[in-house]
Amino acid sequence: MPDKDIIISASILSSNFKNLEKEIKSLNFSGIDEFHIDIMDGHFVENISFGQPLLRTIRSLTSLPIEAHLMVNNPANHINSLFEIGVDIFTFHIESLDNPKDVIEMLSKTKMKKGIAINPDTEISKILPFLDIIDRVLFMTVYPGEGGQSYLSFVEEKIEKLAKINKSNDFLIGVDGGIKSETIKSPYDCGARMFVSGTGILNNDLGYLGAVNQIRKSI
Ligand code: DX5
Ligand code: ZN
Repeated sequence: MPDKDIIISASILSSNFKNLEKEIKSLNFSGIDEFHIDIMDGHFVENISFGQPLLRTIRSLTSLPIEAHLMVNNPANHINSLFEIGVDIFTFHIESLDNPKDVIEMLSKTKMKKGIAINPDTEISKILPFLDIIDRVLFMTVYPGEGGQSYLSFVEEKIEKLAKINKSNDFLIGVDGGIKSETIKSPYDCGARMFVSGTGILNNDLGYLGAVNQIRKSI
């Protein structure tokens, strides 16, 4: 399989924050295609992670695209500030909103790409009305809230269904959670082309470059 048709995105949630600058710089040279920044508000998920100041710092340390994954109750509140910081992709949870169309319209006024994340137990019928106005769908293959959990293979049935709908590749299908060399092939075969990996890259004996290489080679 050619390795160019996939996007590998590093989730920094499990990185060593004692030396964030070094971590981001190493990841810049690891062969990843994007950074994935998990924003948690303590409401949509129990944990609190990080917000604008950290995003601004990361923006100053990389020229790679940055996806903000908003695990928050009110994603609309953060659209303007994240755009100003220079976030490239704004991915919000379908479960966080009664009326996603408003947020999608607000996002359209920025240059950010629009992503919808969907939890393992949410039906894909919830996102179908928005597929022609968004850029990517991010399937959670763990329950959102923390890194280092095990990949949930039951989500693959939904990935396959959505890939069938996406015959002309109008949007990108991604997976987030538990992705490493051992787990990447199955969602790839179902049609996913973007892969978020946290501990799979960061807690890997091969080092970041070796880890990304191994993950890429495993499809
Ligand atoms: C989970 C986050 C994921 C997570 C991925 O709430 O959205 O992005 O950090 O980490 P791993 O790859 O360790 O499952
Ligand atoms: Zn995430």
